[in-house]
Amino acid sequence: MTRPNSTSPAWDDRLLENPHAVQDKRARVQKMFAAIAPSYDINNRLHSLWMDQKWRRKAVELARLKGEEAVVDLACGTGDLTIAMSHGLWPELGDWPPARGQVIGIDFTFEMLPLARAKARSINEGPKGKNLTTDDHILWINGDAQSLPLPDASADVVSIAFGIRNVADPLMAIREFHRVLRPGGRLIILEFSLPTNRVLRGLYNFYFRQILPRTATFISGDKTGAYKYLPESVNTFIGREQMTGMMQHAGFQQVEQFPLTFGVCVCYRGIRA
Ligand SMILES: C[S@@+](CC[C@H](N)C(=O)[O-])C[C@H]1O[C@@H](n2cnc3c(N)ncnc32)[C@H](O)[C@@H]1O
Repeated sequence: MTRPNSTSPAWDDRLLENPHAVQDKRARVQKMFAAIAPSYDINNRLHSLWMDQKWRRKAVELARLKGEEAVVDLACGTGDLTIAMSHGLWPELGDWPPARGQVIGIDFTFEMLPLARAKARSINEGPKGKNLTTDDHILWINGDAQSLPLPDASADVVSIAFGIRNVADPLMAIREFHRVLRPGGRLIILEFSLPTNRVLRGLYNFYFRQILPRTATFISGDKTGAYKYLPESVNTFIGREQMTGMMQHAGFQQVEQFPLTFGVCVCYRGIRA
């Protein structure tokens, strides 16, 4: 198997004018995530000012997990939302019952999966792991959100955090999510957005475009352009109304959006009829 060459850029300024329109977006995205996988978590925590886990926790809350449900977390990366769904990280969620059924984390960048698995194991073996079974019932699969290796109507919750923007064909992926969900199943999409207030948006974009790419690139030692891609891929991605429209178009009902932290992040929920 040929590994992507992580020492050459995946993105340049011309491609970043609209990274979603680039024909080989899939390969470029994969190459970029393979390169930044080892420092992915620290950059997430630091550059979201430790808000990222709060956003994932909101996603878990909106999933309204019940008893023995089956959860599929797409574009799972290093597994933070997958593990949150299996309740390992937040015992203080208290009344929110953990998903005691099967939890599956799927990502098409293989390099992410050993990190996710090691994290789940270390939580399980650490002080918070007592009586928790975070790793035992998580299955990690190297697969593509656009073509899931799962049967029809086999999941109760499908989630995807900061992943749908990176998928080459988001509508195709959302249709796949609809296919694998059971009637009554919930789709949870967590994704970056921009504040609707113009002043806040300007300030945020200054941080997002001018500061974050420099500090995150320094920390990761990245040469692929991953942290230049991040703000540009958010700025050029479909808006919130288009996202809810896409979910409805794929067949989801009761589609709602929940803006978080001045709208820099949005959690979308839709129900499979
Ligand atoms: C920004 S990371 C998000 C990781 C994780 N969900 C989190 O909350 O931190 C995006 C992930 O999406 C994955 N990805 C992008 N396109 C994908 C696809 N078509 N199928 C599966 N995974 C994909 C990448 O490999 C990467 O790990």
